[in-house]
Amino acid sequence: MQLLAATAVSSMLVGVSQASLYPGQSNFNHTCALQTPFLSCSANAYPNITDSCCTETYGGLVLSTQLWNTYTGLESQGQVLPKDSWSLHGLWPDFCNGSYTQYCDLSRQYDPLPSPNTTTGTPSGTPIKPYNGSSISTFLAPFGKFDLLAYMNKFWIAQAQPNGDFWGHEFSKHGTCYSTFNLPCYGPMYRKHEEVIDFFETAISYYETLPTWTWLGAQGIYPSNSTTYSLIDFQSALVKGFGALPYIACSGPKYNATAAGNGTLDNGGTVLSEVWYYHHVLGRVQARHGVPINASINGGSVGNCAKAKGALKYPVRTVGSEV
Ligand SMILES: *[C@@H]1O[C@H](CO)[C@@H](O)[C@H](O)[C@H]1NC(C)=O
Ligand SMILES: *[C@@H]1O[C@H](CO)[C@@H](O)[C@H](O)[C@H]1NC(C)=O
Ligand SMILES: *[C@@H]1O[C@H](CO)[C@@H](O)[C@H](O)[C@H]1NC(C)=O
Ligand SMILES: *[C@@H]1O[C@H](CO)[C@@H](O)[C@H](O)[C@H]1NC(C)=O
Ligand SMILES: *[C@@H]1O[C@H](CO)[C@@H](O)[C@H](O)[C@H]1NC(C)=O
Ligand SMILES: *[C@@H]1O[C@H](CO)[C@@H](O)[C@H](O)[C@H]1NC(C)=O
Ligand SMILES: *[C@@H]1O[C@H](CO)[C@@H](O)[C@H](O)[C@H]1NC(C)=O
Ligand SMILES: *[C@@H]1O[C@H](CO)[C@@H](O)[C@H](O)[C@H]1NC(C)=O
Ligand SMILES: *[C@@H]1O[C@H](CO)[C@@H](O)[C@H](O)[C@H]1NC(C)=O
Repeated sequence: MQLLAATAVSSMLVGVSQASLYPGQSNFNHTCALQTPFLSCSANAYPNITDSCCTETYGGLVLSTQLWNTYTGLESQGQVLPKDSWSLHGLWPDFCNGSYTQYCDLSRQYDPLPSPNTTTGTPSGTPIKPYNGSSISTFLAPFGKFDLLAYMNKFWIAQAQPNGDFWGHEFSKHGTCYSTFNLPCYGPMYRKHEEVIDFFETAISYYETLPTWTWLGAQGIYPSNSTTYSLIDFQSALVKGFGALPYIACSGPKYNATAAGNGTLDNGGTVLSEVWYYHHVLGRVQARHGVPINASINGGSVGNCAKAKGALKYPVRTVGSEV
C-alpha cells in the first residue's frame, strides 16, 4: 500500500539509497548477547561506537503503524479485515530527526508496485524495478512458518492488492532500512530470506502490544456511522493506552469542504484511518524493547485530522468486509 500523503507532512524525505546500509560490514562476530544494548537515537547509537547489528543505528525512530479500513476490495477472494481489531500496516524505521529514507537495499526488492518508483521519489533518484518473482508470501513455507502466514493473512491486510504484495512493499521499502535486519548481521550461515521472516515477526510483536481497538473501546469509543467524535477523544484514549501521543491520520473530505465545516479554516481529514505509534528501541528492534515516544518529538506532526469538535467519523466496516 502506498503511504498516505500525510507521510510527507510528518516526515521529510531524504534521498539516501545504497546497495547496503554499511558497505563492507563483516558477517562475523555479531553476537548481541556479548554487546551492551543501547537505546536507539541515544549518544551511543552510532556505528562508530557500537555494533549496528545489536543496536539500531540507522532508523532509530521506530513507528508501528495500523490501519482502520472499512473494506479490502478483495472480499470475494476471502481477503477480509479482522473483527474487533485494527489491522497492521507496518514497522517503519524513521531517522531520529523524523525524516526517513526508503528502498535501502535494491538487492532485496520484493515490491511489485514500488511507490515511489525511484529511491528519492524524484526523476533523479534510482529507478526501482517492479518485482515480478514469486510473492514474498511464498517465503514463509520453507521455514515451516505456516502459523505466521495464517496470522499475517488475518491481521496484516491490504486494500485493493493481495496481502503478499503489501508485505513485499513494507519489507522492501522499510524493512531494508534497519541496521539490525542487514544481511551481515545474520552471520555466515545466513539462510535466504531469514531476515524477511524476522522482520515480519518483529512487526507483529510490536503490533501485538498496541491494541488500538481495545484502547478506544475502553473509553467507550467504537465505530459508528451516526456518532461523531472529536480528535481529542481519540488522542486521550490512545495516550492512556500507549503512554505517549501517537500520530493520528484521517482520510475523507477535508472538514472545511463539508457542510459542517463550511467557511472555517480547518482543513483536516474527517474519517479516522491510521495510527502511528513512535518508539525508541533498546538494542535490536527484534528484541521488542520499545520505549513509547510522542509523535511530536523533534517538532513532528501529531496528525492531519480535523480539530473541530465532533468533526470525525470512526466508520463501521462494510457488511461482509470483516470476520
Ligand atoms: C571476530 O572475533 C575474533 C575474536 O575476538 C577476532 O579474532 C576476529 O578478528 C573477529 N573477526 C572479524 C571479522 O571482526
Ligand atoms: C561517531 O559518529 C558520530 C556521528 O557521526 C559523531 O558525532 C561522534 O563524534 C563519533 N564518535 C566517535 C567516538 O568517533
Ligand atoms: C536527518 O537525519 C538524516 C540521517 O542522519 C540526515 O541524512 C538528514 O540530513 C537529517 N535531516 C535533517 C533535516 O536534519
Ligand atoms: C515514475 O512515475 C512517474 C509518474 O507516473 C512517471 O512519469 C515516471 O516515468 C516513472 N519513473 C520510472 C523510473 O518508472
Ligand atoms: C522481471 O524482472 C527482472 C528484474 O527486474 C527483469 O530483468 C525481467 O525482464 C522481468 N521479467 C518480466 C517478464 O517482466
Ligand atoms: C458552503 O457555503 C456556501 C455559501 O453559503 C455554499 O454556496 C456552499 O454550497 C457550501 N458548501 C458546502 C460543502 O456545504
Ligand atoms: C480550508 O482551509 C484551508 C487552510 O486553512 C484554507 O486555505 C482554504 O481556503 C479553506 N477552504 C475552504 C473551502 O474554505
Ligand atoms: C507526550 O505528550 C503528552 C500529551 O500531549 C504529554 O502530556 C506528555 O508530557 C508528553 N511526554 C513527553 C515525554 O514529552
Ligand atoms: C458505514 O460507513 C462506511 C464508510 O462510509 C461504509 O463502508 C459502511 O458500509 C457503513 N456501514 C453501514 C452498516 O451502514
